[in-house]
Amino acid sequence: MTECRAWTPESWREFPAAHQPVYDDPAHYEKTLERLAGLPPLMTPPEIDNLRTRIAHAAEGKAFILQGGNCAERLKDCAGETIASKFKVILQMSLILAYGARKPIIRIGRIAGQYFKPRSKPTEIISGIEMPCYYGDAINSVKADPLQRRPDPQRLIHCYHTATATLNYIRALIDGGFADLHHPQLWTMPNSAPSHKRAEYQEIVNHILDTIDFMESVGATLPETLSKVQFSTSHEGLLLGYEQAMTRHDPLTGRYYNLGAHMLWIGARTRTLDSAHVEYFRGIANPVGIKIDATLAPDELVALLEKLNPDRETGRMVLITRLGAERVVSSLPPLIHAVQESGHPVTWSCDPMHGNTVVVDDGVKTRVFAVIQKELMRTFETHRNCNSVLGGVHFEMTAEDVTECMGGIEDLTSQDLQRRYETYCDPRLNCSQSLEIAFLITRLMRSMDGGTSIADHNGQ
Ligand code: PEP
Ligand code: CO
Repeated sequence: MTECRAWTPESWREFPAAHQPVYDDPAHYEKTLERLAGLPPLMTPPEIDNLRTRIAHAAEGKAFILQGGNCAERLKDCAGETIASKFKVILQMSLILAYGARKPIIRIGRIAGQYFKPRSKPTEIISGIEMPCYYGDAINSVKADPLQRRPDPQRLIHCYHTATATLNYIRALIDGGFADLHHPQLWTMPNSAPSHKRAEYQEIVNHILDTIDFMESVGATLPETLSKVQFSTSHEGLLLGYEQAMTRHDPLTGRYYNLGAHMLWIGARTRTLDSAHVEYFRGIANPVGIKIDATLAPDELVALLEKLNPDRETGRMVLITRLGAERVVSSLPPLIHAVQESGHPVTWSCDPMHGNTVVVDDGVKTRVFAVIQKELMRTFETHRNCNSVLGGVHFEMTAEDVTECMGGIEDLTSQDLQRRYETYCDPRLNCSQSLEIAFLITRLMRSMDGGTSIADHNGQ
């Protein structure tokens, strides 16, 4: 077991930090971090504690996490309509899930801070010119221009303000009743949704509205519970200087919180035991996700939990598996068994996106809807077979009508990809694919409860 030295918000600096950009002027970078540390937090410790408590419920199957948003959030996504439509599709998915699963849905956006991307290579060659890769809008520009690809600390301030404006608008939408179940706008389906899904959706909507109507008629409804929803933000904690700057001491609890997001996760590329990332994350009170790919050995996972959550606090660790549809059946059971044997409290989630990325014809990255679906099905079934609970799902998705993932109800093919391929990083589910996946999860959860094999329901 690793020896635990005293933690401070900057103790990570004594450890090797992978995937950190190199700034031309390190003094300017450090000055920028000082400035960030003096800016107000985006949230408060009680909001974070509340999310931790709800995530603990998901571990027991009493709630379910829906986490989703862009792979790389773009500065230009900070626009009223874009934020409202993304929020709306997450709300709609959560209503479909809540209706099907009969349990509270914990909504977590990859939003208001998802501006940092790890890349497999530091540089790339575009039109014969070598330049730094794009590391997310908080670091450099996506434009294929060596000058604009240079990491610029000023972008951190810009992203901080953009995250603040994004979250402020989401909070205002909630306060203004946008998520009120009585609000008709919430129930309109996107134009791209095919008619048979519209009918299924309309049936759910009618049923929910009818139930609300009945409950209100007998005076059984608390209006607050129908008009206010909870929504949390999350991003990959990658640039540790930025995360350190957002870390604040809470005198009430005596703990440190990262007040730049409700939840953060450690990416699959930075989760090694002796990394600076694991050092940073062991000291904060926020819920922490770990992205788990098939190369993580079960004993290494337990060592990570021991280091990140030695007090075995419930709701703090979210294990997000992204194994790939073909690896779930062999790789997931040993991980589940090792965690069960260790007695560590964890909430399991499934990211069916990152293990299933393929490159088609002209080098375009995509994901196939049926394969995403397969990873979800296998993950649900494996947890059930191992006497474990899948407590959530994690998607890269958007409310736009993009063509980045193949398949789905519109049956997008590789020829469609060029039509609206807009992501700055990984391919996302579009609006109708996102709603389709929510219906699918509902069916999976129902079949879990009924104890039948999912394959029986899907004829595969
Ligand atoms: C991501 O979530 O965009 C990502 C990079 O994931 P992973 O760390 O699982 O590869
Ligand atoms: Co991604």
